[in-house]
Amino acid sequence: MENNNYPLKIRDVEPELAEMLMKYFTGEHTGFVQVGPKGYFLPHRFKYEAFKIYTMEVRPTDVFVVSYPRSGTTWTQELVWMVANDLDYETANKIPLTERYPFLEICRFSVYVHPVMKKRFQEENSDCERKLKLLEYVTQSGVDQLEDMPSPRFVKTHLPLSLLPSTLLDSAKVIYVARDPRDVAVSFFHLNKSMRTQGYIGDFKTYWQFFIKDLHHWTPYFEHIKEAWEQRRNPNLLFLFYEELSKDLRAAVERVSKFFGKKFTEKQIADLCEHLSIENFKVNKSVNYDVMRELGILKAGAATFIRKGKAGGWRDYFDEEMTAEADKWIAKNLRDTDFRFPHMSQ
Ligand code: A3P
Repeated sequence: MENNNYPLKIRDVEPELAEMLMKYFTGEHTGFVQVGPKGYFLPHRFKYEAFKIYTMEVRPTDVFVVSYPRSGTTWTQELVWMVANDLDYETANKIPLTERYPFLEICRFSVYVHPVMKKRFQEENSDCERKLKLLEYVTQSGVDQLEDMPSPRFVKTHLPLSLLPSTLLDSAKVIYVARDPRDVAVSFFHLNKSMRTQGYIGDFKTYWQFFIKDLHHWTPYFEHIKEAWEQRRNPNLLFLFYEELSKDLRAAVERVSKFFGKKFTEKQIADLCEHLSIENFKVNKSVNYDVMRELGILKAGAATFIRKGKAGGWRDYFDEEMTAEADKWIAKNLRDTDFRFPHMSQ
């Protein structure tokens, strides 16, 4: 149910605009909302979960990995989990990341699985009890799942800080990861095409317009980042960049270790970097979201969840006009902030 005590305004996206978007995103069936003064764009179902998420119990031992999608969340999650759990490879390899980290806003009315699509997946998997159970598992409420979880809990979310419990940073640890928005858009475009829950059918140029006009899930992109950036000196928040992990993973491991008060030997760090390499990630069943393909949520033969794994790949997708537009959009969004990407010369 919608809750009147929710402090932020949630408004429905105008029906004509929603209709137009749903023609491109064929996995969506009901429309969208924009939340709060920044207008965070989410599927309409968010309004039924917003209050529950905002008021969820935060435990001092909680660890949240927060990001805009496709910013290196999975990579960061595994890195953080390994460091916080003293390099417990055995458990990491046995228990999938999806079980180790409930996805907060995945829920019955979730961003990813519209009830219409869920019904379709249930029908398609109806001959296999195990898959039906798995489907239930991956679409269950993140908040409910977390309630029953022993501490320390690890949580994945793409929600910006302002939509998370206001007490989060008082006690819990937050690791935020940001990535060049051009690489994010290319990567998210592929995922939106691969995931039948999104079912994007347009081209990249059109997708990019939705992205920069804040008409795509979890946008506005820069507001998302800026909220976390403003907290970068908070001792409970660690701000990372995908490009930083990409350039010097070892240094990133050290930053994360320091954040958790852990110390590892050279050899342990080298082994962890090897474990976190893109080559190993691609074949690591614990992190590569194979379950989505098994259930038919990810299209057969489509781009995998762990894809190219490099920084700067956007250049292959942007023509001259888009590059200039991106430069302008980035510059405009950096005007009122001291946030800077380490790899860009602004
Ligand atoms: P690309 O699609 O550009 O390859 P998220 O986990 O937030 O969805 O981010 C996914 C992006 O991180 C994908 O980017 C994916 O390939 C990349 N990624 C995942 N694991 C990685 C790793 N071990 N090394 C480098 N990039 C990785």
